[in-house]
Amino acid sequence: MAERPEYSPGLAGVIAGESAISRIDFEANRLIVRGYDLVEITRRAVFEEVAWLLLYGELPTAAQLGGFQDRLRAERGLPPAVEELLRRTPAEAQSMAVLRSAVSALGVTDPEARDISREATLRKAERLLAKVPTILTAAHRCASGLEPVPPDPELGHAANLLYMVDGRRPQEHAVRAVDVALMLYSEHGFNASSFAARVAASTLADLHAAVTAGIAALMGPLHGGANEAAMEMMLEIGEPERARPWVLEALAQKRKIMGFGHREYKSGDSRVPAVTEEGRRVAAATGESRWQRIADAVEATMLSEKGIFPNVDFPVAWTFYTMGLPIPLYTPIFVASRVAGWAAHVVEQQESNRLIRPNHIYTGPGDRPFPRLADR
Ligand code: CMC
Repeated sequence: MAERPEYSPGLAGVIAGESAISRIDFEANRLIVRGYDLVEITRRAVFEEVAWLLLYGELPTAAQLGGFQDRLRAERGLPPAVEELLRRTPAEAQSMAVLRSAVSALGVTDPEARDISREATLRKAERLLAKVPTILTAAHRCASGLEPVPPDPELGHAANLLYMVDGRRPQEHAVRAVDVALMLYSEHGFNASSFAARVAASTLADLHAAVTAGIAALMGPLHGGANEAAMEMMLEIGEPERARPWVLEALAQKRKIMGFGHREYKSGDSRVPAVTEEGRRVAAATGESRWQRIADAVEATMLSEKGIFPNVDFPVAWTFYTMGLPIPLYTPIFVASRVAGWAAHVVEQQESNRLIRPNHIYTGPGDRPFPRLADR
């Protein structure tokens, strides 16, 4: 019998390509984007700067940033066909499924739909970055029987996103927390969704197709869907005193605790402290510390019992909940950010493209004669 070739389930540890976008510095536990420490960037930047860095490879000058922000503001509106789709979608639909469908529909109506040149792809990426927050908030409002809130051109990216949720000017602590989450969610190497986007791009499919593939891969609870699943878990726990017994019971049942563990980080996700800091600020500003206390207790139990650390989705979940954001928006907000990273991967893939087409080990039945229909 032929020797079975080696393979790594889940492609763990497999090098599947080259990229100049980001890397993890394991020694210092830092996520480096285009040479910059991403957590360091978040202390003094806004999401639009990180998005520009991802799309264009360098930090923007003040003039470039201003122009970019103006273009994003100008592109926030939705084509009537996409707005109509959101209005007609059943209220009980999953928010990520709605967003995936709306982004796919945007691809149909985009004026440069068939153009996969670098220039057109970057223009489309800017349009997507501008429109995804409008889609995710309008979808949520339509599902709640409310009219979408039109974007406010006076507000920056994160503030406008929050404004479109309920039509109220958001408070500074909430804007900052969402901005930090948007920055930290924006890019993370060959994760499942970015890889899915690259696979689609490698067939020379267009940006909207690749981003739709990215959204599909991000949706599940082992990836971006973990932020919503983590919050559902904390709601089930309900009280800080119940956290430890709840986690012990879940672990005894071999259940996975959502928002914990990571394929790459085994001694802590470098993005967690920055989001936790924002969460504590939000808790102090709102006077609502219950979710932070539950989170602290879950974290302590996971560390002492399993030695497993939280990933970025965990503090994002309770921070967003503490500021009053509805749970079905959490993974879509991840999309609003990761669009920048996906677009960077699509541009990079298409710049030195080779079709991504790996092999597999066949495990099915041996060769069989084809029986006639009457003989089966
Ligand atoms: N709860 C309990 N046990 C866990 C967890 C967890 N969250 N994560 C890992 N483990 C255990 C797992 O049971 C396994 O134990 P054993 O070897 O005894 O069977 C061991 O740790 C290795 O886990 P794995 O699932 O084989 O590791 P992986 O590298 O394939 O998976 C992961 C990584 C993120 C899918 C996994 O940690 C997980 O399912 N976490 C929960 C979902 C989650 O939070 N996802 C977000 C990922 S990071 C941000 C993002 O992408 O959105």
